[in-house]
Amino acid sequence: MTLQLSEREHRLFEEWLGEEFGLRFGPEKREILRSRLEPRRAELGLDSFEELYFHLKFHPARQEEWDRLIPHLTNNESYFFREVGQLDVLSSEIFSNVRDRLEKSGRRELRILSAACAAGEEPYSLAMLAHDSGLFPAPWSVRVTGVDLDPQILDRARAAAYTSNAFRRTDESLKARHFDRVDEERWKIKPAIREMVAFRRANLINESWTREIPAQDVIFCRNVLIYFGEESTRKAVEGLYRALVPGGYLFLGHAESLSRVPTRLEAERRPGAIFYRRPDRNG
Ligand SMILES: C[S@@+](CC[C@H](N)C(=O)[O-])C[C@H]1O[C@@H](n2cnc3c(N)ncnc32)[C@H](O)[C@@H]1O
Repeated sequence: MTLQLSEREHRLFEEWLGEEFGLRFGPEKREILRSRLEPRRAELGLDSFEELYFHLKFHPARQEEWDRLIPHLTNNESYFFREVGQLDVLSSEIFSNVRDRLEKSGRRELRILSAACAAGEEPYSLAMLAHDSGLFPAPWSVRVTGVDLDPQILDRARAAAYTSNAFRRTDESLKARHFDRVDEERWKIKPAIREMVAFRRANLINESWTREIPAQDVIFCRNVLIYFGEESTRKAVEGLYRALVPGGYLFLGHAESLSRVPTRLEAERRPGAIFYRRPDRNG
């Protein structure tokens, strides 16, 4: 017999997952949530979801339990060169602006962040574009950082091997340039691009992550705020603001905007893309 997630248990999980990770599991997702929790409840031999809740909240090894659960609760859908309109603006306008600014400041290092990077499709795409722009040859360096909440997806990102699903928007010449064929099904990113990208764990609604990396020139944070409620979005956006250099650029997913949260970020529009900038009094 299927063990039900009661209304009360659902509310406990909904509140905890929202506050801790920004993950929203409203009433319409009660059955999905139940099915994601059930395997671990059964494995631990617990009699109810309430017991699982207290286990996750108070057990001394709760951090490991969360790491085990999170991959079942997040949506990791991504692919290379997603939302090409934004990437065109990055390549045609923003890279050269950032390079001019960096040249004036004496820093010969471009820093790009992919926040909620999933299996690495986005940060590796950004590294390839920076590489192919030709604007940052040695002694310049390009450092791309990918952060995500899900420890398992970060392991996949580090492994850097992908199947056809990830290439739905990748043209063949680009694939040939930056990937090596591993076997019938998988392609692996070439070392020159892999070396530009590092991955780390971060929970976007807990701004402590912003103190662990240097300020970034460009941030892509796409297709994650869409899952957050208003308060989590506000916290995440505050963190993204802090993580940017003054004058730095932020891209969100096409279904996301900052209209619901207070922010000092300023929107700019181009054909096919909207992005945000942290104000910079020096222009
Ligand atoms: C749909 S993917 C987006 C991937 C990529 N940015 C893109 O647009 O293709 C959403 C990612 O957000 C991550 N995520 C969810 N909540 C998060 C949080 N609180 N902090 C950091 N990452 C989170 C998930 O683990 C997942 O990998």
